[in-house]
Amino acid sequence: MAPPPRPCASAWAANSKPPICDLADLSNVERCAEFLLVEDAPIDTLVLNAGLQYSGAAEPLWSAQGFELTIAVNHLAHQALLQRLLPLLLRGSAPRLVVTASQVHDPSNGGGAVGPPAGVGDLAGLRQGPGAPMLDGSGIFNAEKAYKDSKLCNLLMAREVGRRLREQGTPLQVFAWSPGLVIPRSKGGFFRYSRRRNPVAQTLFALVARDLLRLTETPSRAGALLAGLATASPPEATGFHYWSNRVLGPGRLRFEASTPSAEACSGTLARQLWSLSAQQLGLTPEQGFAQLSHASC
Ligand SMILES: NC(=O)c1ccc[n+]([C@@H]2O[C@H](COP(=O)([O-])OP(=O)(O)OC[C@H]3O[C@@H](n4cnc5c(N)ncnc54)[C@H](OP(=O)(O)O)[C@@H]3O)[C@@H](O)[C@H]2O)c1
Repeated sequence: MAPPPRPCASAWAANSKPPICDLADLSNVERCAEFLLVEDAPIDTLVLNAGLQYSGAAEPLWSAQGFELTIAVNHLAHQALLQRLLPLLLRGSAPRLVVTASQVHDPSNGGGAVGPPAGVGDLAGLRQGPGAPMLDGSGIFNAEKAYKDSKLCNLLMAREVGRRLREQGTPLQVFAWSPGLVIPRSKGGFFRYSRRRNPVAQTLFALVARDLLRLTETPSRAGALLAGLATASPPEATGFHYWSNRVLGPGRLRFEASTPSAEACSGTLARQLWSLSAQQLGLTPEQGFAQLSHASC
């Protein structure tokens, strides 16, 4: 039986309009964070779920600050939100962080083994900052790899924030998770950009993966998995956990605790990514941690 949802700790949503946040523009992300900090309502669960990919594009797109768009939206904006909102999250009644990653972060598995593998090298591209097409410093852009790299970053970031909080004695439940392949029947959804570029290939891909081989998850069940991670009370300890919706066979998926790729388990890489990202965001790596309040709401 599913555990009961946790009660909402704050009355914030009752009276306020939710802020709109364009993750492709860090000044917009900062305005959104500032709005929430001024509201000063504790956050029970912070869900970092937004993401995009534009596989098939030959040229990179750029965020308002000049970062490659996939990394800007899927990773950098999320670390900015996370660092800025940590003080509110740590004041939640039973705080939890949920980060949506993907199985494609893992070159040894499923979709991650198809096409160019994820791999951020020594993060030379992040060190370079705006104008770098790829995180690993390569000058040759590959949209599919940029997406895989961004999902690897999601896992590394989730692991690192869990480690930092544990070290300073304020442990948090941190879930990174993978929904599996989700191809909606609508015109929208995750593959909308790729569909515009290559409608025939995308239609065929959907037909084979979703309808013939039945390897996909439905959008509603993927949403339910996310809602479960965000609101249910699983018997998990504080710290980092990774859950993945694994394909067992046609029409058979199992959502279970999993082990991320070897690169996603590197503590050294997680620390480097956190520090370099903070630097690019104009934050210190400690920002958000220093102002933590231990008071519960
Ligand atoms: N679909 C899959 O097969 C799959 C597989 C593994 C992991 N994932 C992950 O699941 C998460 C959700 O994806 P989805 O499948 O639900 O795709 P989706 O239907 O395209 O939803 C993506 C969400 O991200 C938001 N978003 C994109 N760019 C944004 C920006 N600049 N600022 C603010 N919000 C932005 C979108 O907002 P708008 O609608 O307003 O653009 C949308 O709400 C992503 O992190 C993705 O990487 C998806």
